[in-house]
Amino acid sequence: EQELTGLVVWVTGASSGIGEELAYQLSKLGASLVLSARRKHELERVKRQCLENGNINEKDILILPLDLTDRSGHEAATKAVLQEFGKIDILINNGGRSHCASIVNTSMDVFKELMEINYLGTVSLTKCVLPHMIQRKQGKIVTVISLLGIISGCFSSGYCASKHALRGFVNSLDIEIGEYPDIIISNIYPGPIHSNILKNALTEEVTKTFGQDIAIHRMATSHCVQLILIAMANNLKEVWISEKVFLLLAYLWQYMPSVALSMSRVLDKLLRK
Ligand SMILES: NC(=O)c1ccc[n+]([C@@H]2O[C@H](COP(=O)([O-])OP(=O)(O)OC[C@H]3O[C@@H](n4cnc5c(N)ncnc54)[C@H](OP(=O)(O)O)[C@@H]3O)[C@@H](O)[C@H]2O)c1
Ligand SMILES: *[C@@H]1O[C@H](CO)[C@@H](O)[C@H](O)[C@H]1NC(C)=O
Repeated sequence: EQELTGLVVWVTGASSGIGEELAYQLSKLGASLVLSARRKHELERVKRQCLENGNINEKDILILPLDLTDRSGHEAATKAVLQEFGKIDILINNGGRSHCASIVNTSMDVFKELMEINYLGTVSLTKCVLPHMIQRKQGKIVTVISLLGIISGCFSSGYCASKHALRGFVNSLDIEIGEYPDIIISNIYPGPIHSNILKNALTEEVTKTFGQDIAIHRMATSHCVQLILIAMANNLKEVWISEKVFLLLAYLWQYMPSVALSMSRVLDKLLRK
């Protein structure tokens, strides 16, 4: 991770969960930080914590409120980062929202909103930052996807779909950017990690969040983030971060999709009992 010291890193979704922990660990490493999310006061809380425990000063950290669904603001946000730091070494596309409801009961607005946040928002910000990286012929775009971009689960269809879309996009990007060997596209696929993702998940309607947590085994946020930073520093392209049982499922979906589907149906039946 020491390779990351002194770099300018822009983290979206920095007000909570994985993004918040990324800010803490990156500030300890002495990276310059741009913290984005919608809630400014939460970003300020994260900034204070970074300054308290980190190896950086006030001038090394920029709070930049940003809504992934408001794509008209992304160009100006990118300009603001460049004005402040003169470059963007790493963009971490981490902001996102989950889904917890059945397909039959979910309104189309929810499917649309999840594509707007997780997919189109990420595509838009990536497109704003790319010309700068192409001009410098260097940079990293790290996208926090999900194992649910590889496997599918029940009651999170809108989320699965948006993350599968993201996987398609970033891998196309990786191929297209091949003529610039120093622009690295790194994709992270975490399994269940401690965060507020379930609490903030959309349900049947866009106005209704899940609001609670359910007891499943999750990896500690700090462990996941340390692995993300190691993967980033070493230019790893495809990174699966999870406890073994979910990894096994991911391998099944990757190599034996029809077996994975049958197994998932059996698991679902058992879980419903
Ligand atoms: N936790 C897991 O188990 C897990 C597993 C695989 C992948 N992931 C992915 O990890 C990433 C981070 O999630 P998390 O687990 O840390 O969840 P989290 O604690 O709920 O954090 C989500 C972050 O995304 C931001 N966000 C949500 N909607 C946004 C919008 N419209 N515009 C801008 N920012 C927005 C939130 O900030 P504001 O509300 O302030 O905007 C928050 O900072 C997500 O992409 C998620 O899909 C998580
Ligand atoms: C859909 O919503 C109805 C009414 O709230 C509920 O009774 C039913 O169990 C839900 N269906 C599924 C598949 O979640």
